[in-house]
Amino acid sequence: MKELSKRTASFTDSVIRRMTRISNQYGAINLSQGFPDFDPPKEITDRLAKVAEEGPHQYALTWGAQNFREALAAKQEHFSSMKIDPDREIVVTCGSTEAMMAAMMSVCNPGDKVVIFSPFYENYGADTILSGAQPIYVPLKPPAFTFDGDELEAAMKQEGVKALILCNPSNPCGKVFTRQELMIIADLAKKYDLYVITDEVYEHILYQPNEHIYMASLPGMRERTIICNSLSKTYSVTGWRLGYVIASPEIADRVKKVHDFLTVGAAAPLMEAAVVGLTFGDDYYRKLQEHYTHAKELFIGGLKDIGLNFTEPQGAYYVLVDISEFGYTDDQLFCEDLARKVGVGAVPGSSFFKEDVNHLICVHFAKQDATLKEALDRLADIRKKMFIGRN
Ligand SMILES: Cc1ncc(COP(=O)(O)O)c(C=O)c1O
Repeated sequence: MKELSKRTASFTDSVIRRMTRISNQYGAINLSQGFPDFDPPKEITDRLAKVAEEGPHQYALTWGAQNFREALAAKQEHFSSMKIDPDREIVVTCGSTEAMMAAMMSVCNPGDKVVIFSPFYENYGADTILSGAQPIYVPLKPPAFTFDGDELEAAMKQEGVKALILCNPSNPCGKVFTRQELMIIADLAKKYDLYVITDEVYEHILYQPNEHIYMASLPGMRERTIICNSLSKTYSVTGWRLGYVIASPEIADRVKKVHDFLTVGAAAPLMEAAVVGLTFGDDYYRKLQEHYTHAKELFIGGLKDIGLNFTEPQGAYYVLVDISEFGYTDDQLFCEDLARKVGVGAVPGSSFFKEDVNHLICVHFAKQDATLKEALDRLADIRKKMFIGRN
């Protein structure tokens, strides 16, 4: 048999999704892959029930149903004060996962370079490989996950750099970039003529006093920013696979073509049902923030009581917990043991860092109170069960 593709030969499976399988295997409470264990808003699921009878059930327009794009443009305009043309500037995709892939394929030639902050969401590494690009990593330095402007400039000015990926709010470190930080990135992007591809899936999951600033809304950034986003986290519909790209008409036009050949389109009935969510008023987003602020306080309060060290997020719903005290040198093994012995699923921190980091694990709190309490009860025994050499 001939050799399979070289491009994908170095791929492992996703560590995040692997941890879900391992959690299921041991009956662990799965705090690894970030998805809620509560239902989406009832208005959306009620509408879905109606759509099941009424349709649509056939292909929608490849770049997204008209009413979905119009509702999305209005929502985005409301929150970012940017004028969005629903016909020329939006491409609806199968999750922001596809949005990012389509954006990367639209921007990159084989051999181009892409700047990525580390720690980073695992998919970006694979996306660069699939689009033929090479990643250059710039560290975000704990505890505040700040970057060094000179280090960033040194990366952005390298020959062949085409784009920077910005995950804001960030998975896994929970960083929300300040206006000043975004201005530094924006100025460098303009100086070196780079695209900024944003991943803003946690735009509405923020903790006071942090605010989400859209990179595209900064002066001179609209035409060079490609927004990747989705409904997954905002409306608790991670399984619906509804995402989107927002970009200038020239870029969106290219993304439309890539998307058309990748997937043809997002699921028509789900787009139809989700329009209800896109037209929710401000109250919905306020309650969402209250919900996650409560979950964060509950969860990190419990971690503090147990005496674990962790990062407190400014946005998104992840916590990096320091596991140095347990003596493991392999964080993947730690996470497998944690699922097996303690009954809690977590992601090894090394899967997010370019640097040699293996003293962190990532857990999320997008769960009901009862689930979080049960996870904390189990974690209360962590010191009895997890010191290396203990079976
Ligand atoms: C930063 C980030 N981007 C993208 C995704 C995937 O989003 P989607 O469900 O829209 O593909 C996730 C999921 O956890 C994420 O954390």
